[in-house]
Amino acid sequence: MSNESLANLLKEERRFAPPAGLAAEANVTAEAYERAKADRLGFWAEQARRLSWETEPTETLDWSNPPFAKWFADGRLNVAYNCVDRHVENGLGDRVAIHFEGEPGDTRSITYAELQREVSKAANALIELGVQAGDRVAIYLPMIPEAVVSMLACARIGAPHSLVFGGFSADALATRIKDADARVVITADGGYRRGKPSALKPAVDEALTRPGTENVRSVLVVRRTGQEDIAWSEGRDVWWHDLVEAQSDQHTPQAFDAEHPLFILYTSGTTGKPKGILHTTGGYLTQISYTHHAVFDLKPETDVFWCTADVGWVTGHSYIVYGPLSNGATEVLYEGTPDSPHQGRWWEIVQKYGVTILYTAPTAIRAAMKWGDDIPAKFDLSSLRILGSVGEPINPEAWVWYRKHIGADRTPVVDTWWQTETGGIMISPLPGVTETKPGSAQVPLPGIAATVVDDDAREVANGSGGYLVLTEPWPSMLRTIWGDDQRYLDTYWSRFEHKYFAGDGAKKDDDGDIWLLGRVDDVMLVSGHNISTTEVESALVSHPKVAEAAVVGATDPQTTQAICAFVILRGDADAHEEGLVEELRAHVGKQLGPIAKPKRILPVAELPKTRSGKIMRRLLRDVAENRTLGDVTTLTDSSVMTLIQSQLPTAS
Ligand code: WT7
Repeated sequence: MSNESLANLLKEERRFAPPAGLAAEANVTAEAYERAKADRLGFWAEQARRLSWETEPTETLDWSNPPFAKWFADGRLNVAYNCVDRHVENGLGDRVAIHFEGEPGDTRSITYAELQREVSKAANALIELGVQAGDRVAIYLPMIPEAVVSMLACARIGAPHSLVFGGFSADALATRIKDADARVVITADGGYRRGKPSALKPAVDEALTRPGTENVRSVLVVRRTGQEDIAWSEGRDVWWHDLVEAQSDQHTPQAFDAEHPLFILYTSGTTGKPKGILHTTGGYLTQISYTHHAVFDLKPETDVFWCTADVGWVTGHSYIVYGPLSNGATEVLYEGTPDSPHQGRWWEIVQKYGVTILYTAPTAIRAAMKWGDDIPAKFDLSSLRILGSVGEPINPEAWVWYRKHIGADRTPVVDTWWQTETGGIMISPLPGVTETKPGSAQVPLPGIAATVVDDDAREVANGSGGYLVLTEPWPSMLRTIWGDDQRYLDTYWSRFEHKYFAGDGAKKDDDGDIWLLGRVDDVMLVSGHNISTTEVESALVSHPKVAEAAVVGATDPQTTQAICAFVILRGDADAHEEGLVEELRAHVGKQLGPIAKPKRILPVAELPKTRSGKIMRRLLRDVAENRTLGDVTTLTDSSVMTLIQSQLPTAS
């Protein structure tokens, strides 16, 4: 990335110091950085001791065959024991583990003692179905307690799980079942979405007609919606309430090697077949448990944690299941959407359970901004003490709105950078230590080595941009791509020698803090300048009339690429107002410099998003370049593309 363009980039001068009270009582203080710097492996060995091991590891890292890492290789432990049983043994059986809130309003609070019985029964049921350690189990469930119970039951018996997000189609499910060669599928008749039951079981039935899925011998079905006309394959399908409820609630967990596979989770990526990201046991749990303790400053006796992600994404794996539960947290699990039955549903849940730590995604924050400040203002959000963000770069305006309107201008906001591949949080402020900067993930956590390099793998100077890389192995790193070591090497370890290539653009500011700029494919080349889509989007969102923006580079004969912006206006702004587009262009020009002024700005009603909330810029590029649309199957709602196309000025 050329430095002269970066020199123009957004200047964000706002700073927020940690609240004194929080800093004084923080789980992790500045000293952790020093300790980890002096002895990185010793630091992680110490974090591993936060867990209960059947056999304590004597080795920390085996990096003799890079990039294939082994962490704590001679240690043995059981993940479910660490997440459930040990808390019960420590006298915390009556503590609520999960406050479940169903979309229709049904609720259930599950204590650690109950969770232990549920997980034991489910583990016994899987054993009755013939599942053995090492067998893969596919899980295709809505956000209901059985999803968490199923994951822990798999972990308990050493059967790697492979979750497939409930919004995915039969095709996507079939591809994943086949790639992992799953033996059992756990599903439900359906779940609730925007006030209506939405079926799941038919997609499983369809997926299992596809070649390559023949090894699935059982389908375990939770009754969630009670729809009547559910197809049933005798001998293969079995109801959860018949099989699991009939089991003993006693099960003795057995320890597994630290490098025993814990789960496979597929990431779609923009091209090629989905990659089965493999995570293992000891290192994964060590880093997830530590980062949850450090980044969210969890006080298990008093906090109520809520991560709004779906368990089908890595955020749900690490910060709904393994992080909070390994730390003995009380947490909220919510089945539905933020606007069902009304746009204050999340804030109502925060108020109801006294949520103290909220972890969500920029897309949800921008949606709440768009719906209006008055909605959260109707609820008592005073229990909140820490707010987290994950999933994509958070625009400074959205960050500040989140702090102000959700956090009463009092709570630290932690912008956490990581990926399915990293397993856990890698770059983030610490709420009791870091003076935060809106829009920046800032610093690698203690024990993590990350930096920004140029095309020649040289570390860039402060004030410059390039590619984000991880320069040392970390405990919760992916071990490989399931069944494809070569693709693991090619995708992550061949761009730069001895460094993990994350695929994200980033810059270091004058203090050396890291700002994420989006996927490298999302950097535009305009008249010889590299301009990040994220920064132009943030500049647009900082205008009072703009709620959300998506920016793409469209091929242009004069400038190589031309900046094309799609904007969603705030509630009271008028898309037809004269001079609006010019006003927005001028605003971007003032924020970032004239080179970053979008050539075109199109107000739209919706933006195309993946089911995990990321904007699909590829499709907007198709629109901007007047091409036929590419694959739209991973969109939450493919009709938005028709809507956007119908809103385009005919002249384009
Ligand atoms: C990609 C990974 C990590 C769990 C959810 C997504 C982007 C993630 C941030 C952040 C800027 C972020 C990156 C990354 N991303 N968090 N705080 N700031 N970008 O997991 O689906 O594997 O996506 O999400 O581009 O590479 P994922």
